Amino acid sequence: MKRISPARKAVPTPLDVIAPNREERIDTGTAELNRVLGGGLVPGSLVLIGGEPGIGKSTLMLQVAMGFENRKVLYVTGEESDQQIRMRADRIGVPNAACLVLTETNTQNIFNFLEKVSPGVLVIDSIQTLYTDHIESSPGSISQVRECAAELQRYAKLTDTPVILIGHITKDGTLAGPKVLEHMVDTVLQFEGDRHYEFRILRSVKNRFGSTSELGIFEMTGKGLREIHNPSEILVSRREEDVSGIAVAATIEGQRPMLVETQALVGTAAYGTPQRTATGFDAKRLNMLLAVLEKRAGFKLGSKDVFLNMAGGIKVDDPAIDLAVISAVMSSNADIPVPQHYCFTGEVSLSGEIRAVNRIEQRIAEADKLGYEKIFLSAYLKKSVNPQKIRAEIIFVKKIEDLVRSLFG
Ligand code: TYD
Ligand code: MG
Repeated sequence: MKRISPARKAVPTPLDVIAPNREERIDTGTAELNRVLGGGLVPGSLVLIGGEPGIGKSTLMLQVAMGFENRKVLYVTGEESDQQIRMRADRIGVPNAACLVLTETNTQNIFNFLEKVSPGVLVIDSIQTLYTDHIESSPGSISQVRECAAELQRYAKLTDTPVILIGHITKDGTLAGPKVLEHMVDTVLQFEGDRHYEFRILRSVKNRFGSTSELGIFEMTGKGLREIHNPSEILVSRREEDVSGIAVAATIEGQRPMLVETQALVGTAAYGTPQRTATGFDAKRLNMLLAVLEKRAGFKLGSKDVFLNMAGGIKVDDPAIDLAVISAVMSSNADIPVPQHYCFTGEVSLSGEIRAVNRIEQRIAEADKLGYEKIFLSAYLKKSVNPQKIRAEIIFVKKIEDLVRSLFG
């Protein structure tokens, strides 16, 4: 049985004598999580998974806890009763005998059970509900959160058990507790999405054992979270007929190419001041693009309402989406559809120039794979693209005027 003892003594060791890390990884059984962790869980590591209440952290972690092969998992909950956990487990799949549930919030009691159970993975839901006898203040306070996490970190390191902490974080920072843990844990993952949509993105914000540009994509269904291995097919809707105000962008989120449908609605402002609303896209950037359209391409949008939306409720901050955004806006304004087999990738500058974007081969390959027939990109990329290898026709555009001409003649 693993014991928690402080007796391990460190001695100064020459760097070349230190045995290199074996890079052992534990397969979590969830490919999208493995990817974000940089190839699986590292033994003895402390992982924090943060997100807004209700986004699906408990669902994700219970699902992961039930999916390990040949590994006992202890799921400690201070948030819900064991019946509630069982109900959730029934919803997700087959309740697993190797997943033990403990409803407990006192860390000393938890450690007592840990000695008995010696799990292969420990999940804490949530760090804000725990308290240790060593500190006076109430659960959820900064000092409690910090001390409980420190105790669990010692446990993780001494027993080589990976420990996953769930932490609630709100956008306005009212539940800032887990923020204070970011420097002490090995990996910080963020689980995000719009609660009105089914998409969930798992992002790595800090990772001592991998890159922070990976992301995992899930869909919340009636039976737990479904892994989405090919996001483009979901984020773009297939329609019977063409509709105005829609353009598809080839974006890159993290390391993954992703086609995203941008939707715009342009209309005459009903009440004096025109409204500008963007969902999933930076509102300031939308205003800037509208100003560029007005100044460089002569579109009179000053008295128009403009609404912009990213399909699926996802957030995009890849500048390469600009070209699709202005195409969608122009299309809605003119009420002329952009054909469904067109795809766009490019940044728009203040001068109205279409600028090159990075990793163009990957973007083109994704659009090509999904059968897009015309791909619009910056004329500055002419030398970097080999059209022979691409089924789709590549349309190089240098300025907004070029785009207007190719789209609307
Ligand atoms: P939950 O995991 O409790 O969120 P968190 O731990 O981040 O607070 O899940 C939140 C929502 O997910 C809840 O409103 C119910 C919904 N849900 C589903 O839609 N399908 C499911 O299979 C499960 C288990 C939950
Ligand atoms: Mg929860």
